[in-house]
Amino acid sequence: MGVAVTGPALAAAVTKEGGGGVLTGVALGYPFQHILNKYNDQKPFEANKLALAEWVKQTKQLCGDGFTGVNIMVAVYDFRDLALTSAKSGVDLIIAGAGLPLALPQIVSDFPDTMIAPIISSVKAARVMVRKWLSKHRPPDAIVYESIHHSGGHQGGSVDDIINGAHQPEEVIGETRRFLDKQGLEDVPIIAAGGAWYKKDIQRFLSMGAQGVQMASRFLLTEECGLEFGGIRLFKKLFVNNDKPTILERSPAGLPGRAISTPFSRRFAELDNKIVNKPHDCPFACLTPCEKKKSIYCILYHLTAALQDNYEDGLFFAGSNVGEPGVSKEILSVKELMGRLRIGEPVTAGKVSLAT
Ligand SMILES: Cc1cc2nc3c(=O)[nH]c(=O)nc-3n(C[C@H](O)[C@H](O)[C@H](O)COP(=O)(O)O)c2cc1C
Repeated sequence: MGVAVTGPALAAAVTKEGGGGVLTGVALGYPFQHILNKYNDQKPFEANKLALAEWVKQTKQLCGDGFTGVNIMVAVYDFRDLALTSAKSGVDLIIAGAGLPLALPQIVSDFPDTMIAPIISSVKAARVMVRKWLSKHRPPDAIVYESIHHSGGHQGGSVDDIINGAHQPEEVIGETRRFLDKQGLEDVPIIAAGGAWYKKDIQRFLSMGAQGVQMASRFLLTEECGLEFGGIRLFKKLFVNNDKPTILERSPAGLPGRAISTPFSRRFAELDNKIVNKPHDCPFACLTPCEKKKSIYCILYHLTAALQDNYEDGLFFAGSNVGEPGVSKEILSVKELMGRLRIGEPVTAGKVSLAT
């Protein structure tokens, strides 16, 4: 979870409990300005690399050199540098989305032990990606499928696709599995994401043909999430108290973003036709597709504001479950949450949780 939501404390705890912790890898120099001041004004991209290498090191230390993954958006200006920094820092897996990471095999060609996985949201994207990587003799180590109907943050599909119900998980997972098998890639797992909250959701994805599940929103509600930024208390409070459906807002990345409905995200709602550009500074030039000072807002500033408990300016990305009534929203330790995902929700005094 970016920007800087999944840090070393959360990623390492997930790995220690038998999962695979995945750090956010983009634009880390920006929220760490106070630490990396000497680089920031002139060399923001150096700061990003330093902060990422430092977070990988810390995660590895915290989880006893266990599995450490990194998620990098293809749409960031320094995608190539961050992928290389990750590989050099010894990450086990690079997951890349928000754009098709067509060039990733060449970028990390000197690091055959670094696993690589693209994120896809449609069968077409899966076919394009796999064919391209196979032409470079580098099959994916996994395919991450993100449902455009449930995932938090940027979506790999249009608003029309979302409204029309295109690319449903059953269809994309099933078709992609068949396609991989036909290519002789039976061993390449599909990791399904978007809307998994309970054990039963994991089982549903597995029954559709996935071999694993990626979860984000429920892990935001852990004690370990956001520790590097004081516990991101407001973010968690908004997740817990939210009783409105999540909304799709327009991101300067050129993709719809799923977020908690707040005055800020509603101003940029996808279905609002009256959106005007907001003049702003461009402190970091983070996204390739962004029109910088002419874009509707600075996404890096507003995502960082969310880490800093700033309700007015924060952009709080969230999966669709966060807007569903009746979803269990306790703050748990990662150990407790992983236990519940293995064995189901506990039976509480006098009340049985039906949503296991
Ligand atoms: C706060 C937040 C930040 C996210 N940031 C990223 C990101 O930087 N890159 C990415 O590929 N996906 C990102 N996602 C999407 C998640 O990685 C994940 O695939 C998706 O949210 C899964 O659905 P769930 O939240 O219902 O579990 C983010 C999700 C959330 C909630």
